[in-house]
Amino acid sequence: MSMLNACSFCSKSKDQVLKLIVGENSAICNECVNLCSGLLIDTKKTRRNKTSPVSIPDPRAICEYLDQHIVGQHTAKQVLSVAIVNHYKRINNLDPDLEIQKANILMLGPTGTGKTLMARTVARYLNVPFVIADATTLTEAGYVGDDVESLISRLYIAADGDVAQCEKGIVFLDEIDKIARKSESSTVSRDVSGEGVQQALLKLVEGTRCRISPQGSRRTPTTESVEIDTTNILFIGGGAFVGLDQIVKNRVQGTAIGFGAQLTANTTDATQPTPDDLVRYGLIPEFVGRFSSTVNLQDLSKAQLIDILTTIKNNFVAQYKWLFEQDGVNLDFDADSLDLIAERTLTSRTGARGLHAELERVLLPHMFDLPRYSKQNILHVVINKDQVNTPMTLAQENQ
Ligand SMILES: Nc1ncnc2c1ncn2[C@@H]1O[C@H](COP(=O)(O)OP(=O)(O)OP(=O)(O)O)[C@@H](O)[C@H]1O
Ligand SMILES: [Mg+2]
Repeated sequence: MSMLNACSFCSKSKDQVLKLIVGENSAICNECVNLCSGLLIDTKKTRRNKTSPVSIPDPRAICEYLDQHIVGQHTAKQVLSVAIVNHYKRINNLDPDLEIQKANILMLGPTGTGKTLMARTVARYLNVPFVIADATTLTEAGYVGDDVESLISRLYIAADGDVAQCEKGIVFLDEIDKIARKSESSTVSRDVSGEGVQQALLKLVEGTRCRISPQGSRRTPTTESVEIDTTNILFIGGGAFVGLDQIVKNRVQGTAIGFGAQLTANTTDATQPTPDDLVRYGLIPEFVGRFSSTVNLQDLSKAQLIDILTTIKNNFVAQYKWLFEQDGVNLDFDADSLDLIAERTLTSRTGARGLHAELERVLLPHMFDLPRYSKQNILHVVINKDQVNTPMTLAQENQ
């Protein structure tokens, strides 16, 4: 065995360094180890800047992850998973002769059925930069508000200042229905701004080079502008499209009158919104054309609402139970009460969001007095049907 007393790299002797790691024919000191590890990290960074392929997830795995957090909406989950996986495949494609078409997605569905939740959940699962933006905050360039380029700035920040990563990112445009222009007959001048935003988005969605000033990103502290190519950025639009069902209905009825008895064949398909319906709603055709797959989220059923209350990860009941536990009080609901809460939520047509309102209404009087419950020896609260119908009134101030 050799007796090495100095680092083979920097020649410093054993006494000059903190630690010397000795091998068969050479040795390395702690300082050189540090230096080398720095070099390795640097190459990793620069490699990533070029074309490091991202590992392609399995659509089933994405779907299973979504299942843990979102009740129902199976078709929507499948379409979204596949679209995301295809996005990964596309950004990994190195063949310059084969251009894979980008399939931007539009998620339509009633309020409170999980559109935003689905976007957030999938974002957590993925390892490409992801931003969720509210289309209502966007304005045309030149107006007060965020212009559409701000989406790309945010994506750049999410990518930690890595241009190549940013160019592979995903932008979720929530509330996309709110930038529809009003019906054709309307003459309100404000309509124009919605259409203007759509026009501005159009360029981003179909792919453009835009310059952003990367303020706030860590890697580039200067305010020098950066150019981002948006060709490969995936856009997912989401919106409730209130009133779209009426447009669909009118179309279906129109067909019924026009073609009489022939309608029967395709009724189920005919009730799905078509690109034309979206144009009639107020999206410009070019914009609709860029979103090739549409996902329809469904109204939640009573059983699904109960699942959201009691079984899904982070369910509402578990959340309130935890809050009560902080004061040493057990909270329970009997089956009838849950049924009634779901029933009332169904009639309010607010989707799962209404569950929260219902629970607050029923539980607020208890929560107001929770700190005093243990003194009164109340250690267990059971909510029943009666309390849902007529919640306890809040204790009045001493009078
Ligand atoms: N399918 C679902 N599974 C579990 N929880 C749900 C589901 N849908 C909605 N929720 C619950 O309701 C809340 C509101 O849902 P979300 O924000 O996704 O609605 P949305 O479809 O985006 O509605 P809007 O069109 O009004 O924006 C969520 O935070 C979640 O707690
Ligand atoms: Mg939403």
